[in-house]
Amino acid sequence: MPIPKAELHLHIEGTLEPELAFALAARNGVELPYADTEELRKAYLFDDLQTFLNLYYGLMAVLRTEADFEELADAYLARAAAQGVRHAEIFFDPQAHVVRGVPIGTVIEGLSRALERSQERHGVSTRLIMCFLRDQSAESALETLEAAKPYLDRIIGVGLDSAEVGHPPVKFREVYEAAAALGLRLVAHAGEEGPPAYITEALDVLRVERIDHGLRCMEDPELVERLARDRVPLTLCPLSNVRLRAIDVLEEHPLARMLDAGLMCTVNSDDPAYFGGYVDDTFHAVREALGIDHERLRTLARNSFEASFLDRDAADEALRAKYLAEVEAYSFD
Ligand code: ADE
Ligand code: ZN
Repeated sequence: MPIPKAELHLHIEGTLEPELAFALAARNGVELPYADTEELRKAYLFDDLQTFLNLYYGLMAVLRTEADFEELADAYLARAAAQGVRHAEIFFDPQAHVVRGVPIGTVIEGLSRALERSQERHGVSTRLIMCFLRDQSAESALETLEAAKPYLDRIIGVGLDSAEVGHPPVKFREVYEAAAALGLRLVAHAGEEGPPAYITEALDVLRVERIDHGLRCMEDPELVERLARDRVPLTLCPLSNVRLRAIDVLEEHPLARMLDAGLMCTVNSDDPAYFGGYVDDTFHAVREALGIDHERLRTLARNSFEASFLDRDAADEALRAKYLAEVEAYSFD
């Protein structure tokens, strides 16, 4: 049995496995530019974030109906449960669907159907985080927040993803202020490919509670000190960093050094259908490649629940306490 953990950095569109992509393509009459799943998998050789995003947004063409989004999320939750995930805070990218003529309501209703049944069916509690695409305009992000208003009871927070360099957090100041005023929690991708200054800006201008990735903080010792002092959670995705060439090989990942520096690290899978593993596979990979020992794996699991948004009410706190007790009681042998 894998160690219990929360997954805090997971793009639901990034869980679209080739087999499901072809099944949905057939169901929806969408022609894919790949002969079969094998040919599609062979295309998963990325030079950087942008080359990945090009393929990733293209393959989303198969997602059209509520049932498609429900099936996608249910398949992820089944896999996540088998990997020891007890709680998942799941990103989705409404703009990537609305632009293809799929209404935001279709996306949210479909995902919600799977999420609502998840505790009972998979033993995984869930939350939904709506991401803005940072390579789209600030106006488009504001329109997206407006369009999401009828569904805010299903959404715990907002995030910021897609192509990072050239799209600093400050571009989204207004929409983050509006989201905060609506009571939404705030996170943002920063320091994946972008410079450490984007991490500082996400904290100071957008007022985010967690940084997604944050890898490049290691280039700025003062920032590391601040992140450690304030216990700002970083949702790291080591397998993603290798596949998108932020680092050359997993053995060079700074996770161990980040833990040594006192950073509040968590380990996550980002887009597991594309990057060669789900979250417990990632735990195993960092253990092998970086010599992260059992007690540090337990720290990562503990951090994942402590950094989660399970803190809104007494029921949340009770659930979090239960999960944390499971982490402490877990035996690795
Ligand atoms: N969207 C999906 N995966 C992403 C990543 N790793 N960085 C930015 N945007 C993304
Ligand atoms: Zn991500």
